[in-house]
Amino acid sequence: MTSWTLQEMPVPSSLDAPDAALLHGLVDAQNAVVRAEWGTDDFTTTARRSLSRLQHQEYQRRVRLLAVDPAADPADPASVLGFACLDLPQRDNTHTGWLEIGVREEHRGAGVGGALHEAALDVARAAGRTHLMAETDQAVEPAPGPSTLAAPTGEGRVAADAAGVRFALARGWRLEQVARHSRLTLPVDAAALEAHRVAAVAAAGPDYRAVTWEDATPDAWADAMAELRTRMSTDEPTGGLAVEEEHWDAARVRALDAEYAERDEHRLTTAVEHVPSGRLVAYSGFMMPPHTQDFVWQEDTLVLREHRGHRLGMLAKTVQLQALVARRPQVRRISTWNAEENRWMLAINVALGFRPAGGTGVWQLTL
Ligand SMILES: CC(C)(COP(=O)(O)OP(=O)(O)OC[C@H]1O[C@@H](n2cnc3c(N)ncnc32)[C@H](O)[C@@H]1OP(=O)(O)O)[C@@H](O)C(=O)NCCC(=O)NCCS
Repeated sequence: MTSWTLQEMPVPSSLDAPDAALLHGLVDAQNAVVRAEWGTDDFTTTARRSLSRLQHQEYQRRVRLLAVDPAADPADPASVLGFACLDLPQRDNTHTGWLEIGVREEHRGAGVGGALHEAALDVARAAGRTHLMAETDQAVEPAPGPSTLAAPTGEGRVAADAAGVRFALARGWRLEQVARHSRLTLPVDAAALEAHRVAAVAAAGPDYRAVTWEDATPDAWADAMAELRTRMSTDEPTGGLAVEEEHWDAARVRALDAEYAERDEHRLTTAVEHVPSGRLVAYSGFMMPPHTQDFVWQEDTLVLREHRGHRLGMLAKTVQLQALVARRPQVRRISTWNAEENRWMLAINVALGFRPAGGTGVWQLTL
């Protein structure tokens, strides 16, 4: 029989400090859940990333609640049976929180998840939060039918009998949106990619120019990137989620750059400058995680509303992909998530060769 105690994880001073054992257990449990869901190591995390996020809480307070086997050796990562990670924004969206709950497969159905859920809700309420968001993952999107739950956006479904879906529904959560996971396998057809880029350059015309950089944001673009990130938080479709615009300034852009550097996570960014105004009006970013040489995350892609319709999304993404192929020829897989109702973004991805590969239900709970 599974028995457990709940505790809040301390923030260790380093990865080999005596009190870092629980952090290694958390990461081991998170990776077990991710592998079970997706059947790949691509989306796993590292202890270094986890610690770095805990050491920087100026923009997000991060609470980690663990269900620990009291009979196990605390130095054994397997002593952590399940986790609830609650991220509480501090500068904007202070009515919200993002919750991630996971339980190792061999310890499910014994109440561990339910106990973590209750404890996390207590923390969220004490922090004055009224809306929590969470995600459930699926490696395959189910075909329409009675055993599925459709997003209220009208696009995308989750399987009604999946463990996470049942768990969320039983606790009053509402499905707000479904995001599609799209996967691109490399190498890509270089001629077809170049043809897409040339067509996008022609459609965009001389007023727009792509710029690419690796890692930290160049000084000249720090304010412009802050503006783009602010707009990213609400310009992409957010379904019925109670999210407000995030507040970004150059200092926050710099802080994020420093965190990526500390974690040895490399980024490739392509932005589009509107030449007459000198503003950045679009961007697309890759993140190259340190735990693998052949997988890359496609992070944000945004074209400001007032500059849409000029093929700037295709321009940024083709320039970005060509830069990746030139700088990291060993990459074999790229993954990205987009709202199922975001058909403009999905159309670009499909044209570039991305294929649907399951996705994520986005849920909200009103406290
Ligand atoms: C969702 C998840 C966290 C649930 O963890 P769990 O430890 O199995 O959760 P619980 O045991 O508290 O509840 C799960 C089920 O076990 C049942 N249960 C609870 N206590 C039980 C007990 N003592 N004995 C038997 N069953 C029990 C619950 O009623 C629930 O049943 P349901 O699935 O029909 O609703 C787990 O399946 C998981 O990690 N999934 C992948 C990650 C994920 O989807 N997370 C997002 C959740 S919003």
